[in-house]
Amino acid sequence: MTAFQRHILPHVTSRYDVQEVRTSADEGGLLEVDYEWDRVRVPRSLREFEARWANRRNPLDYSGVWRFRELLPFAPDSQIVTIGEGQTVLQRSDECGKYVGMNAGGLYLQYEGMNPSGSFKDNGMTAASTHARMVGAKIAACASTGNTSASLAIYGSTSGLFRVVVFVGSGKIAFGKLSQALDYGALTVQIEGDFDDALARVREVCPEVGIYLCNSVNPFRLEGQKTIMYRVLEGLDWQPPDWIVVPGGNLGNSSAFGKAFAELKQLGLIDRIPRLAVINADGANTLYQLYDRQGLRWNGGKPDIAAIDRFYHVMDAEKRKADTLASAIQINRPVSLLKCLRALETCDGVVREVSDQAILDAKAKVGACGFGCEPASGASVAGAKLLREQGIIAPSDRVVCILTGHQLKDPDATVGYHSAKPGSIDPKLAAHGVMKVQFGNRPVPVANNVDQIIDLLRKFAG
Ligand code: F0G
Repeated sequence: MTAFQRHILPHVTSRYDVQEVRTSADEGGLLEVDYEWDRVRVPRSLREFEARWANRRNPLDYSGVWRFRELLPFAPDSQIVTIGEGQTVLQRSDECGKYVGMNAGGLYLQYEGMNPSGSFKDNGMTAASTHARMVGAKIAACASTGNTSASLAIYGSTSGLFRVVVFVGSGKIAFGKLSQALDYGALTVQIEGDFDDALARVREVCPEVGIYLCNSVNPFRLEGQKTIMYRVLEGLDWQPPDWIVVPGGNLGNSSAFGKAFAELKQLGLIDRIPRLAVINADGANTLYQLYDRQGLRWNGGKPDIAAIDRFYHVMDAEKRKADTLASAIQINRPVSLLKCLRALETCDGVVREVSDQAILDAKAKVGACGFGCEPASGASVAGAKLLREQGIIAPSDRVVCILTGHQLKDPDATVGYHSAKPGSIDPKLAAHGVMKVQFGNRPVPVANNVDQIIDLLRKFAG
């Protein structure tokens, strides 16, 4: 056996077979997948993966996740469940870079919205679905702010290997995402409460009913998400950038990125690890509060767990709920917090919070310069801009912002922003502190009259 599941804290020695279905260790705490690398045939250089570009008819080589399968070697090829995920693009965006304050050639956008279900979640779900198949799961479930549920539902519907149950908070999910779970035929359970409630309940009920859990407490999910970083490296001719900037919600992505870079370094496949910036929405900022304000650190595997407990205790006593227009990251109890702290240590990371105003402005800028994204993804560009203003990112750095979800996931947010007239902001936006629209592009009403339309177009043409 080359792969096993182990406790994330280095001083806890619990270790389990990959065939076990677990979302925590016996003594509690997160698990991760670990490998005996000396028993795996790992390429000597990342460039060796390029041979697979010429072999697109093999679904495993076509997949943007599994073409790197030697770097997540927990499953035999015959068990892998793939739907062509990971055909994503790293786009150099000088125009967006100007907005952030970068020199030309300094800003890249990694479009994970191009995945089959429209978000980065497919990178992880292909891995979790593979493990579900390895253990013969018949029903799989997750709690979600929308994208995880869409992703699990599409893997269930396309593979036909398992049925899917998704738990979502009531009124907390963008319609694009809800429509996917419904259309893919998942049993969709709307819990009275928010994502944090839905995740707590799904973790309680799954073991009772023997359902396979696909939230990122499932360590196999993060194995798939590591490949986002491999593709970023691939897009940069295998040269690590200076910065990776990613929105932080449940903190699975940032955790996976840290693990990817730690392993690549350990394997001698890169010589330098990029710095990591994790960006919270200021209405859902547990990581920012703990890491930046209170100085909580991974501390070589001995984080101050009591400080985290105290933070949550106060949060509950004050009945504080996460609240941001970036509904994907409206999360106050990030389940991968400890793994993220480790990633921040690995990558000499920083954490920032940004307002909904900054998120929506950045999102509009991304749309105007490229493929577009959903609000949560805008947090990465807004965060990069903030770090530039603070002088932490230099104009000459090379920065990759991860755009986690497709623009069409949340059209209400986009149309609400662009339709705002000066002085009449949509009340939902105003309630979240979005008081002005910098990059609005309002639809222009015109009579059903050729002369008036020509008039309008002449003005447009200048
Ligand atoms: N961006 C998008 C579009 C997301 O859907 C999520 C998380 C994140 C960022 C945050 O990523 O959790 O790895 O820190 N969405 C989850 C869901 C929670 O249920 O779809 P993270």
